[in-house]
Amino acid sequence: MSTSESARPVAHYTPARNWMNDPNGLVFHNGRYHLFYQHNPLGSDHRNMSWGHASSPDLVSWDEHPVAIMFDEHEQIYSGSIVADTDNTSGFGDGVRTPLVAVYTSEHGIQTQCLAYSLDDGLTWTKHAGNPVLDRGSAHFRDPKVFRHGAGWVMVAVEAQERRVLLHRSDDLKNWTYLSSYGSAGPVGGVWECPDLFPLVLDGAPDDIRWVLLISLATGGVAGGSGTHYVTGAFDGVRFTPDRDLPEVPADDPRLADLDWVDGGRDCYAGVTFNGLDDSDRTFIAWMSNWDYARSVPTEPWRGAMTVARRLELVTADGRPQLRSTPVLSAGAIVESRTETIAAGKAVASDLPVAARIDLRARLDADGELIVWIAAGDPNEHVTVTCSAGAVSVDRTAATAGDFHPAFASVETVRTPGDGARVDVSIVLDEGSIEVFAAGGLRSITDLAFLGAGQRRMTVEAVGSRVVVDELVVRDLAAPS
Ligand code: FRU
Repeated sequence: MSTSESARPVAHYTPARNWMNDPNGLVFHNGRYHLFYQHNPLGSDHRNMSWGHASSPDLVSWDEHPVAIMFDEHEQIYSGSIVADTDNTSGFGDGVRTPLVAVYTSEHGIQTQCLAYSLDDGLTWTKHAGNPVLDRGSAHFRDPKVFRHGAGWVMVAVEAQERRVLLHRSDDLKNWTYLSSYGSAGPVGGVWECPDLFPLVLDGAPDDIRWVLLISLATGGVAGGSGTHYVTGAFDGVRFTPDRDLPEVPADDPRLADLDWVDGGRDCYAGVTFNGLDDSDRTFIAWMSNWDYARSVPTEPWRGAMTVARRLELVTADGRPQLRSTPVLSAGAIVESRTETIAAGKAVASDLPVAARIDLRARLDADGELIVWIAAGDPNEHVTVTCSAGAVSVDRTAATAGDFHPAFASVETVRTPGDGARVDVSIVLDEGSIEVFAAGGLRSITDLAFLGAGQRRMTVEAVGSRVVVDELVVRDLAAPS
């Protein structure tokens, strides 16, 4: 099976045509959110890496623009970030317009950090004549995330194979000085990629600022294959000091579940946060795929989608700071709203729009389960979300077209902190994907999952216990509220 235009996601960004992977250069500038991304302008495989470009007024509806930074015979344009250089520290400005400066990895046998700048809000780009600006003679030094810190700029990037995050600083984005490194520690079952480092207040207390270091692993993630780990700590402008020292944990080791992960699903990778927003408005987008099978995903004429944008906060749970993510979505017209008690062994069914947000709050006994079945057309092809005391899981083993790659069929389970007998989940369903936010957003599971054409149906089933549904609200994300 290959999906067609009719199966294009509604509430997720996809390029009109061709391959897409990591989000790059996320920046809010002059009232618009800009999303650049790894893109092959010529085909639907991972080659000819260039930066595609889209922008949005609200993180929900996106306009695609011409390719921003194009590969050429000298280099591919690998992942990186963008800053608005409002003080013209780089000298790329013309005295009137603010330069946007892209810091990207040039892949040409070795990997070096290079600059390009734009004086028209990101539409057209000029490569810096003095490239590269940072060269360690390494073939695996990549994915610079640059942010303003005090009077200077800080860059976090990875030595991917050594599994090390390197910090550098600069006054002008052109001359970089080494500061320190973090790692190898925590998950080490794959190369490290696409780091990010940012402050968040803990539990909403303005004077308790913690730093969050995101590290994506191409393989060796908690759900198998690609995944994004995080560690909280302190950053003094030179060094990142983790709150806890982590053991090195290889792929498939059960101790991976004791580490912190941005998402417990299979398809939330290389995610980073926006520059240009207040620290209290920390906003994240990831590539919704997994290197295990990304090259085979059966969609056309595009291949690759982004997750919905998520606002990140830091809250104490299970005695340590943990990320909480909340999806940024259109309000969406309410198409169903009910409260109901479902007897053990019974189920209630309803129709669903293709792009839906389902908010479900319920209570069940300690040994009970609440299963949400979602199907379209053939009821034998379905995705399920199972909530039990202390855990939530997504099962896509019976989804449509799940045999496009042997590594695709999967079940992911995450433990949920808090009161196990209470279910609090939001499900974002679209063509080709499901994102589950559980325990008020302390856990999420993001999975590609295809369902056939035909009316979508949801069945909420009570297993082993009666389920008291305090709130079941379904919104149509394609319809205005
Ligand atoms: C992550 C990644 C990055 C690299 C880019 C190449 O998915 O492998 O490390 O810059 O993709 O497209």
